[in-house]
Amino acid sequence: MSTVLAIDQGTSGTKAIVVAEDGTALAVAEEPVRPRYLGGGRVEQDPNELLDSVLTAGRRAMAEAGRPVDAVALANQGETVLAWDPDSGEPLTDALVWQDRRAESVCAELADHAELVARRTGLVLDPYFSAPKMAWLRRHRTREGVVTTTDTWLVHRLTGAFVTDVTTASRSLLLDVDTLTWDGELLELFGLAGERLPALVDCDEIVGTTEAFGGRVPVAGLVVDQQAALVAEGCLTPGSAKCTFGTGAFLLANTGTRAVRSRSGLTSSVAWRAGGETAYCVDGQVYTAASAIRWLTDLGLLSAPGELDAVAAPDAEGVLCVPALAGLAAPWWRPDATATLTGMTLATGRGQLVRAVLEGVAAQVAEVCRLVADDLGAPLSRLRADGGLTHSRALMQAQADLAQLPVDVYPSGHATPLGAAALARLALRPGLPLAEAVGAWHPSTVYEPAWSPDRAAAFRDRWRRAAEPGLPAR
Ligand code: G3P
Repeated sequence: MSTVLAIDQGTSGTKAIVVAEDGTALAVAEEPVRPRYLGGGRVEQDPNELLDSVLTAGRRAMAEAGRPVDAVALANQGETVLAWDPDSGEPLTDALVWQDRRAESVCAELADHAELVARRTGLVLDPYFSAPKMAWLRRHRTREGVVTTTDTWLVHRLTGAFVTDVTTASRSLLLDVDTLTWDGELLELFGLAGERLPALVDCDEIVGTTEAFGGRVPVAGLVVDQQAALVAEGCLTPGSAKCTFGTGAFLLANTGTRAVRSRSGLTSSVAWRAGGETAYCVDGQVYTAASAIRWLTDLGLLSAPGELDAVAAPDAEGVLCVPALAGLAAPWWRPDATATLTGMTLATGRGQLVRAVLEGVAAQVAEVCRLVADDLGAPLSRLRADGGLTHSRALMQAQADLAQLPVDVYPSGHATPLGAAALARLALRPGLPLAEAVGAWHPSTVYEPAWSPDRAAAFRDRWRRAAEPGLPAR
C-alpha cells in the first residue's frame, strides 16, 4: 500500500490531499495565498505565507485522513523565484511570481542571444521563466544567499535537501533540455555563474524525509504543477494534450522522448522524468483565465466568479476580448501587450462583456491547440481539461466550439496533486508502470463542438486580427 500526502503549492492557494493507493482522495485541505498585484507588471508573494499554507494545508489533510502516509509529494508553480539564506532557511526577498513582468529588461538586454537560449533550453527568452527573475533579484535586491525557485526553498524547509526536479529546472532557461544538465554558458549569460545550484533530481526520487506532517516520511514526487496535471490526466503518449484552467490556462501536449524545438512559438519542457526515462511536452499558455474572471468580479461585473455562466450572454454580439491582462505568451511572447475589448455599442451589457472575456480565453487556447498540431505534425484529436474553470459549462462549450475538439473534463478537482501522488508512488514502488500509478479515469462531462468549422474559423480569424494590432510597437 502507498498512501501519499500530495501538496499542490499554486499561485492562488495551496491544496493538500491524502491519496489512497487507488487514487481516492481520503482528505482534502486548502489554504488561500494572496499574490500581490502591484502595478507595473509586478506580482509578488510572501514566501512565509507559501510555507505556512503548505504546513497548514498538509497538517489539516493529515488530521482529516487520520492515518499515516508513506510519502509526501509536492507540485510547484514552476517559475516563481526567491532569494533565501541556506543556513537559516529564512527568505531574503519576497517571491517574484511567474506572472511578474519586471525582468523584461533582463530579457531585452539578452535579445541577441535569444536563438541560443531557445536552442539550448527549448524555451523562449521571456520574463515568465525563472532565470530572468533570478537575475533581476540579484541585480536589484540581494547578492546574499541562494536564488532558486520556490520548490527548492520549500523542500529545504521540509527536509534540509537542496534540490530541484528536472521538470522545474526545465522552466528556468538555465537547463540544457536535451542533456538535462545546468548550462554554464546560460548561467554566464544571465549573470548567474557562481551561484550555488540545487542538485537536479528525477520526479520519482526520494529527496529526503520530513516530520512536518507527523511521523518521519520520505519526500518524493517533485514536479511542476502543469506537468503533474498532464500525468494525472493520463497524457502519457505523444499527441495527447490537456489544458488546466486555473489562474491562467496552460495547455501541454506530450511529445514523447524528445524535446521538439517548436516552429510555431511554443515552448518545450520536461513533462516528467521517472523510471530512468524522460518524457517531454510542448506548452502554450493564457496568462489570465481565472484571474480574468477575478478581474471581472473586482470590476463588479460579476458578484462572484461562480456567477460566470449565469451572467454570460448566449452571444457576445460583436464584442471581442483579447484577455492579455498580464501580457501575451505563446506564440507572441509580448510581456508588454495589454488586454483589449472591442466592438462595444450602447446596447452592450455586462452579459456580452462577460461572454467576450470567456470567448477570449477559449480563442487563445484554441490558437495554442492549432500551434501544437503544427509542432506535432498532426491535429489533436481531443483536449482533456481540468481546473476550477471547468465548472463553467459556457467556457467548456466555447472551448470545444472554438478549438473544434471534444473536451473531456477530468472528473476530479485535484488533477495536480493526483499527478504528483502518482509520481511519488513510483518512488515507493520502483518498476511500477506510470500508467498503473496514474490509473484509468472517465470524463465527468464531454463537450462536443456545436459550431461548424467555418463559424469557428471565422471567429478565430477575427480574434487573431484583434490580438495582433493590440500589440504595441516594439
Ligand atoms: O506556469 C505557472 C503555472 O504553472 C501556475 O499554475 O495553478 O499556480 O496557476 P497555477
